[in-house]
Order: sequence, then structure tokens, then C-alpha cells
Amino acid sequence: MATFKIGYFVGSLARGSINRTLANALINLAPEDLEFTEIPIKDLPLYSYDYDADFPPAGRALKEAIEGSDGILFVSPEYNRSIPGALKNAIDWGSRPWGTNSFARKPTGIIGASPGSIGTAVMQSSMRAVLSFLDAPQLNAPEAYVKFNPAVFADDGTVTDEGTADFLRHYMEEYGAFVERVLAANAPGHIGDLKPDAAKLSR
Ligand SMILES: Cc1cc2nc3c(=O)[nH]c(=O)nc-3n(C[C@H](O)[C@H](O)[C@H](O)COP(=O)(O)O)c2cc1C
Repeated sequence: MATFKIGYFVGSLARGSINRTLANALINLAPEDLEFTEIPIKDLPLYSYDYDADFPPAGRALKEAIEGSDGILFVSPEYNRSIPGALKNAIDWGSRPWGTNSFARKPTGIIGASPGSIGTAVMQSSMRAVLSFLDAPQLNAPEAYVKFNPAVFADDGTVTDEGTADFLRHYMEEYGAFVERVLAANAPGHIGDLKPDAAKLSR
């Protein structure tokens, strides 16, 4: 059985992040052929193109982690109806220098938790626009907007409600199948294989 390496971003820097708890739950519930490594964002400087001529180690490490992953999973809160600044900063680092967009053709999933009822829906919509520009295929369905109930999620990722566990397990099964499909489409020789200029973005 092939194993797929999934790099995941937690879009929160908070010590008690509910999205980190959600990420732990997703890892617990995911199919066994998915292997997870967090791509850290907290030590990245604020991106500027002044760094492009000489990317700092944190920026290089981020790009290597993205490029070394078969798929990317974003588990993020919604801040002020959009993407948290720390996560957007990390995405900007990964997209540059121009011509080396690390997200190109990388299969992605977006999920997030909020105490509020819309469960990060607006953040996810913003992310879809950004990832489209970065030429990163996204799992379109199922969508997963998680209204976080602390009684249901233990910090270690145990999910005590059967219905919630089934929903998240299904999301991860669909995400794993999506990663496999996109990798097959990207494979050399396939009609849609990755062309060398795929990492280029419009200026
Ligand atoms: C700056 C800021 C903006 C927020 N904006 C939203 C929002 O737009 N929508 C929402 O559902 N919750 C919002 N919240 C509440 C977060 O959903 C809540 O703090 C949640 O715990 C954040 O996830 P985390 O614990 O993983 O950091 C906001 C919180 C902060 C700190």
C-alpha cells in the first residue's frame, strides 16, 4: 500500500488552539496510508520580497517541507472573517520567490473550527481564492465547517461523539483519495503532468 506524506498547517499560534485539537483529531481518524508532519509557521519573519535574493533558513525550510509533501492540509481558525495573518504570511513565503511557487499542483484540503456557528466558512472561502491563484487543487467536497464543542474533543484528538467522528473520518478518507487522484494526474507522462513552468505566477 502506497503511503502519502501530508504536510499540515495549523493556522493558530495560540497555546490552547482548538484548531490544533482538531488537527490531532483528524490525524487520529485519518486512513493509515496518510503520514502527517506539521509545517510550522510561528518562527517565520513577516514576508517581504527583499528576502527573495537570499531566503532565510526558516523560509527555505518551509518551502522544502511543502515541496516534500504529497498533499497539504490547512487546519485553521477564521480571524475577522478571513485567513489568520500568521497563516497568510506562511503562504506568502511558500509562494515566492517568483517562479518557485511551492504550492503549484499540490493537492490541498481546508478545514477549520470555531466556537461560532459558521465554523470558519468565510476563512475557507478566502483560502480557496488564494489557493486557486497559487494553482493548488483543492478538495471541493465534502466541505467541513466545524462548530467546536469542547465536550466532544479531548486535547489529544480523541473525539467522543460518534457522529462527529464519522463525519471527520469521512472527510479524511475523501481527502486521502483526492491526494491520490491529483498525484496520478501530475505523474510524468500523464496528459496533465506537471510542466516546468507551473510554479510561475503572474507578477
Ligand atoms: C483576532 C480574532 C478574530 C476572530 N474572528 C473570528 C471570526 O471572524 N469568525 C469566527 O468564527 N471566530 C472568530 N474569532 C474567534 C475564534 O474562532 C476563536 O478564538 C477560536 O478559538 C480560534 O481558534 P484557535 O483556538 O485555534 O486559535 C476570532 C478570534 C480572534 C482572536
